[in-house]
Amino acid sequence: MSTWANLGLQDSASPLMEQLIFFHDHALLILVMITVLVGYLMFMLFFNNYINRFLLHGQLIEMIWTILPAIILLFIALPSLRLLYLLDEINEPSVTLKSIGHQWYWSYEYSDFNNVEFDSYMIPTNELENDGFRLLDVDNRIVLPMNSQIRILVTAADVIHSWTIPALGVKVDGTPGRLNQTNFFINRPGLFYGQCSEICGANHSFMPIVIESVPVNYFIKWISNNVI
Ligand code: CUA
Repeated sequence: MSTWANLGLQDSASPLMEQLIFFHDHALLILVMITVLVGYLMFMLFFNNYINRFLLHGQLIEMIWTILPAIILLFIALPSLRLLYLLDEINEPSVTLKSIGHQWYWSYEYSDFNNVEFDSYMIPTNELENDGFRLLDVDNRIVLPMNSQIRILVTAADVIHSWTIPALGVKVDGTPGRLNQTNFFINRPGLFYGQCSEICGANHSFMPIVIESVPVNYFIKWISNNVI
């Protein structure tokens, strides 16, 4: 989760988020280089003496500064497309979790395990334990196995919500009447926090998501205790 003074991206907990961070850094580097170059050129204009009074055209330089930006944009566009298709790939998931957005809480269903289902409400500030995170902790966490491909099905019961976990690089809209799909692979144990990120009404800020990432045998233990 994000903590004090953390203004950048959160540390990744999945290979996809790692790739997203790499792409972000790559694009930012190109952006910085363009900004520095254009800034330098603009600054140097102040010292232009207008010596070339008879210069009316320059075919070569026009060609260069038309084609060069197009090539630079390709260096952003192609990795971006690669990521886009990578994010959409479903790699034979071993667990499927269905999350349904409601005003204003999430409910979850483990369709593979006798349809274990539960609601997940935010813990109100006045009921928070001393080690709880305000506006972020929930009463029932999602438990998922780490080092496994996980498929998420997202939908909603009333208005549009968005199931968003920054550390996993997941952000999927839950839309009534539709079933959206995404997948991720958690590569370390821990708690991963997320929030709804579709303005869905008065308590939009109060429907957080908590994933408890545990080793597979712990997950099996947990799910078998919950299967009726
Ligand atoms: Cu649900 Cu915002």
